[in-house]
Amino acid sequence: MHFQWYPGHMTKAVRTIQSDLKLIDVVIELVDARIPYSSKNPDIDTLAQNKPRILLLNKCDLADPAQTKKWVSHYEEKGFHVLSYDAKNKQMKKQIDPLIQEVCKDKILRDRKRGILNRPARGLVVGIPNVGKSTFINQMAGKSVTKTGNRPGVTKGKQWIRIHKQLEFLDTPGILWPKFEDQNVGLRLAWIGSIKDDLLTYTDVAMDLITYLKEEYPGSLKGFYGLDESLDEVKGLEDLARIRGCLKKGNELDLDRAARLLLDDFRGKRIGAITLETCDGLK
Ligand code: G4P
Repeated sequence: MHFQWYPGHMTKAVRTIQSDLKLIDVVIELVDARIPYSSKNPDIDTLAQNKPRILLLNKCDLADPAQTKKWVSHYEEKGFHVLSYDAKNKQMKKQIDPLIQEVCKDKILRDRKRGILNRPARGLVVGIPNVGKSTFINQMAGKSVTKTGNRPGVTKGKQWIRIHKQLEFLDTPGILWPKFEDQNVGLRLAWIGSIKDDLLTYTDVAMDLITYLKEEYPGSLKGFYGLDESLDEVKGLEDLARIRGCLKKGNELDLDRAARLLLDDFRGKRIGAITLETCDGLK
């Protein structure tokens, strides 16, 4: 799940996706609903521009519903067919089929004209690591058909997973890379736990999260921890360490432990359903 990208990985991923695209009728792209901009790969729009596209704002169960609604409209305005989605919830499956029929209607018509009836639509699932691609495919298939945590550059023969008689998926999702060059993107990926943990300075990441939560979700840290939100982020993390008894030998505050605790609580939705970026001001 957590890995670093190198130029070689990216070149290989582009080639794989280009050749996969020749085989499929529809691209299903997953992003994380908590960071719908930062978890969206910058290049897939160019790579897949000739294919019908569906965009799933996945993990919507963890995100702020009011913000998710805005993000859905944002991407709809850009011409995507968008669903707010929760790949762990079996009920959501039902919403995909009508959308696939809708985006593939030209293909279905073309098939009919050629006398081909009921050839299943073929889909490719794509997204950056950890957005829920494997969970989604497995849920659609109703069983575990793809391993979670696949790595870039691992090749194996192409296989189709039959979802039902009108739909098949390529069994290996297309793994894309995030917008590395943007530091804010890196920070947001770190907040949701999609950056290799040993690359992080937990305390910095946690202090930035304190600042964000105080501004965008005032009262959330006070509500969950009893934290004094009038403190700056450094004092705030110290306050958290004190409240939660994160201490080292000699009663010194263990800020690293407090930072991990905060990030774990955030990722586990214990602080609330929170979105980490807004679409205001985005084109
Ligand atoms: P990937 O193929 O895109 O890399 O993602 P994967 O399916 O491996 O999912 C990454 C993590 O996200 C998994 O958690 C998975 O359970 C979780 N996940 C996927 N979709 C959703 C969703 O809609 N809502 C929520 N809340 N979580 C989702 P994990 O901790 O890595 O594994 P596990 O908890 O499944 O054991």
